[in-house]
Amino acid sequence: MNAEIPLFNTADQLVPLRERLHDAATRVIDSGRYIFGPEVQSFEHEFARFVGAEHAVGVGNGTDALMIALRAVGVEPGDDVVVPSFTFYASAEAIAAVGARPVFCDIDPETFNITAATVEAALTPNTSAVIAVHLFGLPAPMPRLRDLLAPRGIKIVEDAAQAVGARLDGVPAGSLGDAATFSFFPSKNLGAFGDAGIITTGDEAVADTARLLRHHGTTNKQQHTLIGYNSRLDALQAALLRVLLPELEGWNAARRAAADAYEAAGIAEYATPQTIPEGSEPVHHLYVVSHDEPEATIAALRERGVEARGYYRTPVHLQPPMVRWAEGAELPGTTAASASNIALPISPVITTRQVEAVVAALAAA
Ligand SMILES: Cc1ncc(COP(=O)(O)O)c(C=O)c1O
Repeated sequence: MNAEIPLFNTADQLVPLRERLHDAATRVIDSGRYIFGPEVQSFEHEFARFVGAEHAVGVGNGTDALMIALRAVGVEPGDDVVVPSFTFYASAEAIAAVGARPVFCDIDPETFNITAATVEAALTPNTSAVIAVHLFGLPAPMPRLRDLLAPRGIKIVEDAAQAVGARLDGVPAGSLGDAATFSFFPSKNLGAFGDAGIITTGDEAVADTARLLRHHGTTNKQQHTLIGYNSRLDALQAALLRVLLPELEGWNAARRAAADAYEAAGIAEYATPQTIPEGSEPVHHLYVVSHDEPEATIAALRERGVEARGYYRTPVHLQPPMVRWAEGAELPGTTAASASNIALPISPVITTRQVEAVVAALAAA
């Protein structure tokens, strides 16, 4: 289907940047420096500054970022790591991939995020870390999570894949936990031209370990001190991301304006939008509402030229490779959210008229 109003639009925003993107790509191609080098270093500095973190370590993608960050904060094979089930599969997959055990916690179906209470209910004597996913671009309640977890020595890794540029009480996602991970998958708010990701942290030791892990456990390819990965951020992606990063605040502001336009158009009469707690500045990677009849509504919207989609209909703990870690898990908030959510079109280039058309289609549906 070619929807008149697509769910995403990440192409139009690149049109004015075309020449600068081509120049950046040419610069890297002509430099002969494709792995590490000045573009990667500069992007790491610029991104660290953007999220107010001391250190940024570029890696191959957001999933590797999670695996590397978990190990860098000290997660060992056999440890328990708490993670929401209502998230993209990779949030939990990374835990299993480092030999730890995912312990699934519930979410608040109004914010779609974990809470201190849902995390506390999932803690075990073996819990060494919690993955705080900032779902759909809304920060998880980090101060309450820190109050719960810091006294117990449990680390928090922010999964900020969907939340680049989001803030909580003025503090950017990426400096709210012990480490944070980002994905630059092309459809993300800051999307590369292929796979890319980054880890941020305020802890130098965590950054040093992450740098080792992304590069075969070595700094010099002679002495290897860890079993690591080959997961580097390409120089080409770094150079292109350097062109995009200065645009991100504007793009995120446009997404927030679109969310405001949904509210002004009366979305709440027809569906329940994600609750945005006081002090949160989300970036609306997706604009997600809850609805009593999601599938029929999605079909009716499609008939009216509006693309819409349910997210994570099968939550992670019910995915076949995960069920062995989810025995007896009761996650009512997750069940409700996964069954009832609808993502509606949002992007930096969506117009107020298009938003009004979506709400009108929803009213008619
Ligand atoms: C919440 C979340 N975590 C992790 C990832 C994994 O990122 P990547 O696709 O770059 O590996 C994604 C996106 O794909 C995501 O949305």
